[in-house]
Amino acid sequence: GSGLAELADRVSDPVRMAYPHIPHFAPATVEGHPGELVIGELASKTVAVLSGRAHFYEGYPMQQVTFPVRVLRVLGVETLIVTNAAGGLNPAFRAGDLMLIADHINFVGMAGFSPLRGPNDPAIGPRFPLMDNAYDPALRQLARTIAQRLGIGLQEGVYIMLAGPSFESPAEVRFLRVLGADAVGMSTVPEVIVARHGGMRVLGISVISNVLTGTPVHMPGVTQLHDEVLAAGQAAIPRLAELIAGVIREM
Ligand code: HPA
Repeated sequence: GSGLAELADRVSDPVRMAYPHIPHFAPATVEGHPGELVIGELASKTVAVLSGRAHFYEGYPMQQVTFPVRVLRVLGVETLIVTNAAGGLNPAFRAGDLMLIADHINFVGMAGFSPLRGPNDPAIGPRFPLMDNAYDPALRQLARTIAQRLGIGLQEGVYIMLAGPSFESPAEVRFLRVLGADAVGMSTVPEVIVARHGGMRVLGISVISNVLTGTPVHMPGVTQLHDEVLAAGQAAIPRLAELIAGVIREM
């Protein structure tokens, strides 16, 4: 997600492939998203890092947004760790918090935009995949344990995906709280659905880059909020990178 290229830099003996050089990969165009697949070693395990992602709001079909996850699956990846920057809806959350994703609300999917829409290939996954425990309970427990051991605060909650790219209005923030969401973002859910469809285990962590109050208190310009998103996200990166490395080491 936004600004997380630093994690890819921790990969040793890396092979780096820029997205434009990989067939059918959409380039990651948003500022702060370099867009490359990095394969190498992290915490004594072989990893493939998708540094940067294509977003639905950039205009790509859901199948293209999620194509890199399909590629990872075919490469033999069995566990997907997803990260994102998200706006905090839960009043207990602060900018810079990390949130373990306990569950999601596929708000965009409810409007008909699912990456699984269309013909299904049963060799890849079932027509009607379950989304119970989409975020693997054992991996979540491991993440809690590692976070506690490292002294890293870890919130937990429900992530809701909206299409964006406009941020939420105050009325929408209040609406999303009623739905039971703790954090809101513009990514991740399609990738998780495709990963679960293909039988991968998933762990998800959000960086709460900003908090949403439901009242128009600071009325930032869109650009300003994007800067705020990148700054608070950056401040949380070392903690997030430590946590992810710790989880990978003990998986
Ligand atoms: N809303 C939606 N997506 C986001 C936000 C937000 O406030 N912050 C980071 N991604």
